Amino acid sequence: MSGNRTFTMIKPDAVEKGVGGAILKQIQEAGFKIIAIKQTKMSLEQAGKFYFVHRERPFYADLCAFMSSGAIMPAILEKENAVDDFRKLIGATNPANAEAGTIRKNFAESIDKNAIHGSDSDENAQIESNFFFSETERF
Ligand code: CMP
Repeated sequence: MSGNRTFTMIKPDAVEKGVGGAILKQIQEAGFKIIAIKQTKMSLEQAGKFYFVHRERPFYADLCAFMSSGAIMPAILEKENAVDDFRKLIGATNPANAEAGTIRKNFAESIDKNAIHGSDSDENAQIESNFFFSETERF
């Protein structure tokens, strides 16, 4: 991916509230191109696999239950310096600490229901993109 792609997922709280479109608008207006997108729902088992890196964390069970509780919108995004720029756009994990104007400040409720995920490295962006999208789904 050489630094120009990241992976995101609009979480069940935001999809349920009907703000997925507003979030995608903010993402596109910030200069990210949508390479792949879908609306889907993870099983508890799939969420467990997606968040396997967090398996030792105290919030792992609740995280997997929440992330499999409703529809999500995973997407692959393209922009120069994608991973870092996207993490700036979404803001801090806990929306209470997120800067004004960030997606989490605008749309998130809590550290659990925090509206959106963004990959933390190029390597994880690739792994997470491959979790949801085949090569023929990327344009
Ligand atoms: P995200 O970074 O997208 O993926 C892991 C999620 O775990 C994170 O968003 C939060 O929504 C959730 N989470 C819950 N509690 C914590 C915590 N104490 N620290 C970090 N993440 C947490």
